[in-house]
Amino acid sequence: MDVHIKAAHAPAATTYPISLRINGQQHQVEVEAWVTLLDLLRERAGLTGTKKGCDHGQCGACTVLVGGKRINSCLTLAVMQNGKEIVTVEGLADGTRLHPLQQAFIDHDAFQCGYCTPGQLCSAIGLLREGEARTVAEVRELMSGNVCRCGAYPQIVAAVTGVMGLADHKDHPDRPAIPGTVPA
Ligand code: FES
Ligand code: FES
Repeated sequence: MDVHIKAAHAPAATTYPISLRINGQQHQVEVEAWVTLLDLLRERAGLTGTKKGCDHGQCGACTVLVGGKRINSCLTLAVMQNGKEIVTVEGLADGTRLHPLQQAFIDHDAFQCGYCTPGQLCSAIGLLREGEARTVAEVRELMSGNVCRCGAYPQIVAAVTGVMGLADHKDHPDRPAIPGTVPA
Protein backbone atom coordinates (compact mmCIF):
# COMPACT_ATOMS: atom_id res chain seq x y z
CA MET A 1 0.00 0.00 0.00
CA ASP A 2 1.33 3.41 -0.92
CA VAL A 3 1.50 5.90 1.88
CA HIS A 4 1.34 9.53 0.88
CA ILE A 5 2.90 11.96 3.25
CA LYS A 6 2.00 15.55 2.73
CA ALA A 7 4.89 17.94 2.90
CA ALA A 8 4.41 20.27 5.78
CA HIS A 9 4.59 23.90 4.82
CA ALA A 10 7.05 25.68 7.02
CA PRO A 11 5.59 28.91 8.31
CA ALA A 12 7.19 31.96 6.76
CA ALA A 13 9.91 33.40 8.95
CA THR A 14 9.16 36.71 10.56
CA THR A 15 11.18 39.55 9.13
CA TYR A 16 11.94 42.96 10.55
CA PRO A 17 12.35 46.20 8.63
CA ILE A 18 15.68 47.87 9.29
CA SER A 19 17.41 50.87 7.85
CA LEU A 20 21.18 51.04 7.47
CA ARG A 21 23.40 53.66 5.94
CA ILE A 22 26.15 51.67 4.20
CA ASN A 23 29.05 53.52 2.62
CA GLY A 24 26.94 56.66 2.42
CA GLN A 25 23.90 55.00 0.86
CA GLN A 26 20.64 54.38 2.67
CA HIS A 27 19.41 50.78 2.59
CA GLN A 28 15.96 49.59 3.71
CA VAL A 29 16.02 45.85 4.31
CA GLU A 30 13.56 43.24 5.56
CA VAL A 31 15.63 40.82 7.54
CA GLU A 32 15.10 37.72 9.68
CA ALA A 33 16.21 38.02 13.29
CA TRP A 34 19.11 35.57 12.89
CA VAL A 35 20.86 37.24 9.93
CA THR A 36 24.29 38.55 10.86
CA LEU A 37 25.54 41.90 9.66
CA LEU A 38 28.21 40.03 7.70
CA ASP A 39 25.64 37.95 5.80
CA LEU A 40 23.50 41.00 5.17
CA LEU A 41 26.46 42.88 3.69
CA ARG A 42 27.62 40.00 1.52
CA GLU A 43 24.39 38.23 0.55
CA ARG A 44 21.83 41.02 0.48
CA ALA A 45 23.72 44.26 -0.10
CA GLY A 46 26.14 42.65 -2.59
CA LEU A 47 29.17 44.01 -0.74
CA THR A 48 31.45 40.99 -0.93
CA GLY A 49 34.61 42.92 -0.08
CA THR A 50 34.00 42.03 3.57
CA LYS A 51 35.21 38.47 3.98
CA LYS A 52 33.92 35.51 5.96
CA GLY A 53 36.79 33.59 7.49
CA CYS A 54 35.87 31.73 10.66
CA ASP A 55 32.31 33.13 11.17
CA HIS A 56 33.05 32.86 14.91
CA GLY A 57 34.83 36.06 15.87
CA GLN A 58 38.32 34.61 15.74
CA CYS A 59 39.96 35.85 12.54
CA GLY A 60 38.90 39.47 11.97
CA ALA A 61 38.35 38.98 8.23
CA CYS A 62 34.83 40.37 8.59
CA THR A 63 35.83 43.61 10.36
CA VAL A 64 33.80 46.67 9.36
CA LEU A 65 33.21 50.06 10.92
CA VAL A 66 29.90 50.68 12.69
CA GLY A 67 29.48 54.25 13.84
CA GLY A 68 33.23 54.64 13.28
CA LYS A 69 34.13 51.71 15.54
CA ARG A 70 35.61 48.45 14.30
CA ILE A 71 33.57 45.34 14.95
CA ASN A 72 33.48 41.74 13.77
CA SER A 73 30.40 41.75 11.56
CA CYS A 74 29.98 37.97 11.98
CA LEU A 75 29.31 38.48 15.68
CA THR A 76 26.48 40.99 15.45
CA LEU A 77 22.96 40.60 14.16
CA ALA A 78 21.82 42.97 11.47
CA VAL A 79 18.71 43.91 13.45
CA MET A 80 20.94 45.11 16.29
CA GLN A 81 22.48 47.69 13.98
CA ASN A 82 19.23 49.28 12.83
CA GLY A 83 19.79 52.97 12.08
CA LYS A 84 23.58 52.71 12.18
CA GLU A 85 26.23 54.03 9.81
CA ILE A 86 28.31 51.19 8.35
CA VAL A 87 31.53 51.51 6.40
CA THR A 88 33.03 48.54 4.58
CA VAL A 89 36.20 48.26 2.54
CA GLU A 90 34.22 49.37 -0.52
CA GLY A 91 33.59 52.71 1.20
CA LEU A 92 37.17 53.60 2.15
CA ALA A 93 38.38 55.24 -1.04
CA ASP A 94 37.31 58.74 -1.98
CA GLY A 95 36.26 58.13 -5.55
CA THR A 96 39.41 57.03 -7.36
CA ARG A 97 41.62 58.30 -4.52
CA LEU A 98 42.62 55.51 -2.19
CA HIS A 99 42.46 55.91 1.56
CA PRO A 100 46.01 56.56 2.86
CA LEU A 101 45.98 53.14 4.53
CA GLN A 102 45.04 51.42 1.27
CA GLN A 103 47.92 53.20 -0.45
CA ALA A 104 50.27 52.28 2.40
CA PHE A 105 49.29 48.61 2.10
CA ILE A 106 50.25 48.75 -1.58
CA ASP A 107 53.46 50.68 -0.90
CA HIS A 108 54.54 48.22 1.81
CA ASP A 109 53.40 45.10 -0.05
CA ALA A 110 51.25 44.33 3.00
CA PHE A 111 49.31 41.39 1.57
CA GLN A 112 49.71 38.22 -0.41
CA CYS A 113 46.36 36.52 -1.11
CA GLY A 114 44.50 39.60 0.13
CA TYR A 115 41.76 37.66 1.90
CA CYS A 116 42.40 39.31 5.25
CA THR A 117 43.09 42.74 3.78
CA PRO A 118 39.59 44.31 3.89
CA GLY A 119 39.37 43.41 7.58
CA GLN A 120 42.92 44.59 8.25
CA LEU A 121 42.16 47.94 6.62
CA CYS A 122 38.92 48.54 8.51
CA SER A 123 40.54 47.41 11.74
CA ALA A 124 43.50 49.73 11.21
CA ILE A 125 41.17 52.68 10.58
CA GLY A 126 39.35 51.84 13.80
CA LEU A 127 42.68 51.62 15.60
CA LEU A 128 43.74 55.05 14.33
CA ARG A 129 40.45 56.54 15.53
CA GLU A 130 40.76 54.93 18.96
CA GLY A 131 44.11 56.66 19.50
CA GLU A 132 45.29 53.99 21.93
CA ALA A 133 48.31 52.76 19.95
CA ARG A 134 51.42 54.91 20.25
CA THR A 135 54.19 52.41 19.58
CA VAL A 136 54.86 49.65 17.09
CA ALA A 137 54.33 47.07 19.84
CA GLU A 138 50.94 48.59 20.66
CA VAL A 139 49.95 48.52 17.00
CA ARG A 140 50.84 44.84 16.86
CA GLU A 141 48.88 44.16 20.05
CA LEU A 142 45.80 46.14 19.02
CA MET A 143 45.76 44.60 15.54
CA SER A 144 46.14 41.08 16.94
CA GLY A 145 42.47 40.29 16.37
CA ASN A 146 43.12 40.29 12.63
CA VAL A 147 44.76 37.09 11.49
CA CYS A 148 46.79 36.90 8.27
CA ARG A 149 47.35 33.34 7.15
CA CYS A 150 49.93 34.52 4.63
CA GLY A 151 52.04 35.95 7.45
CA ALA A 152 52.27 39.47 6.05
CA TYR A 153 52.40 40.90 9.56
CA PRO A 154 55.69 42.83 9.31
CA GLN A 155 54.46 44.62 6.18
CA ILE A 156 51.00 45.26 7.66
CA VAL A 157 52.58 46.77 10.77
CA ALA A 158 54.91 48.85 8.58
CA ALA A 159 51.93 50.16 6.58
CA VAL A 160 49.90 51.09 9.65
CA THR A 161 52.79 52.64 11.57
CA GLY A 162 53.87 54.47 8.41
CA VAL A 163 50.46 56.18 8.21
CA MET A 164 50.67 56.94 11.93
CA GLY A 165 54.01 58.64 11.34
CA LEU A 166 55.89 56.55 13.90
CA ALA A 167 59.55 57.22 13.32
CA ASP A 168 60.68 53.73 14.24
CA HIS A 169 58.91 51.15 12.09
CA LYS A 170 61.00 48.35 13.48
CA ASP A 171 59.48 45.66 15.64
CA HIS A 172 59.79 45.66 19.38
CA PRO A 173 63.22 44.27 20.31
CA ASP A 174 61.61 41.65 22.54
CA ARG A 175 59.33 40.46 19.77
CA PRO A 176 61.27 40.58 16.53
CA ALA A 177 59.29 39.62 13.47
CA ILE A 178 60.83 36.97 11.28
CA PRO A 179 59.47 37.22 7.73
CA GLY A 180 57.24 34.29 6.91
CA THR A 181 56.37 33.50 10.50
CA VAL A 182 53.37 34.42 12.63
CA PRO A 183 54.42 36.50 15.62
CA ALA A 184 53.32 35.38 19.07
S1 FES B 1 34.67 35.84 10.03
FE1 FES B 1 34.23 37.19 11.65
S2 FES B 1 35.95 37.01 12.96
FE2 FES B 1 36.29 35.48 11.45
S1 FES C 1 47.25 38.36 2.83
FE1 FES C 1 46.55 36.30 2.77
S2 FES C 1 45.52 36.06 4.66
FE2 FES C 1 46.46 37.98 4.83
